[in-house]
Amino acid sequence: MSELQVSPVVRDLETQRLFWNEWAADCKKDLDSTSLRHREAVLQLLQALNVSRPSILEVGCANGWLSSALAQFGQVTGTDIADEAIAAAKAKHPQINFIAGDFLTLALPVEHFDVVVSVGVISCIEDQRRFLGRIAGLLKSRGYLILTCPHKFIWDRTDFPRRSHGEIPLDWLNMGDLKTLLRDRFSVLHTETVIPAGNRGILRLINSCRLNALIQRAMAEHYIVRLKEQMGLGKTLVVVARKRS
Ligand SMILES: C[S@@+](CC[C@H](N)C(=O)[O-])C[C@H]1O[C@@H](n2cnc3c(N)ncnc32)[C@H](O)[C@@H]1O
Repeated sequence: MSELQVSPVVRDLETQRLFWNEWAADCKKDLDSTSLRHREAVLQLLQALNVSRPSILEVGCANGWLSSALAQFGQVTGTDIADEAIAAAKAKHPQINFIAGDFLTLALPVEHFDVVVSVGVISCIEDQRRFLGRIAGLLKSRGYLILTCPHKFIWDRTDFPRRSHGEIPLDWLNMGDLKTLLRDRFSVLHTETVIPAGNRGILRLINSCRLNALIQRAMAEHYIVRLKEQMGLGKTLVVVARKRS
């Protein structure tokens, strides 16, 4: 009897481009609660950097929802491999400079940006060290990076519908992994986790409705959320780092 042949999933850049175009097309017009929280966290951190009229690069900007909010601080360039999402971003926000292509090879001015922002992208990049090296090369000396990434500890313990079947790299990180990757080129200034989540293992208990309803008799829900975030139980890692001179 012949063995069942399973053809390997192709993961070249063209496949990734198609995957991300489809993903972006399916994103609802209104931002979901996760994106809203990411935006709030990034804008607060950018504000706290106190850089006057920074030139900002957003890596993996999709349809430009965050780039358009970043534009209140300074000149923004948004990039993404999903060319159809970039076309939609350009149509909606003509004042912003959007460029489509693979970030690792895209023509961008070196040592030009004061701040690079990247939300949820590093986990979808095969060579994460090279990705951070590229960011460092585009930042001015002592420039800032605000980066978020899915938190592996939480996502490993969460049931969710999987969209990718191997067509894109998917490599979540824990905070220690991220700090190790960053330390070649950056000093880490700030770390936090946001959006408590997870429903398996220990997180099944920590996030159980019954337990949380009990705690809410003594403490407002937003304090509980904040507490879990401070305990490192958020589903998103958030880091502010500074390029070493
Ligand atoms: C999880 S999505 C996050 C999108 C957006 N930052 C957000 O939070 O809604 C990852 C994004 O990274 C982009 N991306 C993946 N690989 C890329 C690459 N090699 N170069 C540029 N962008 C890439 C995808 O097209 C996608 O928009």
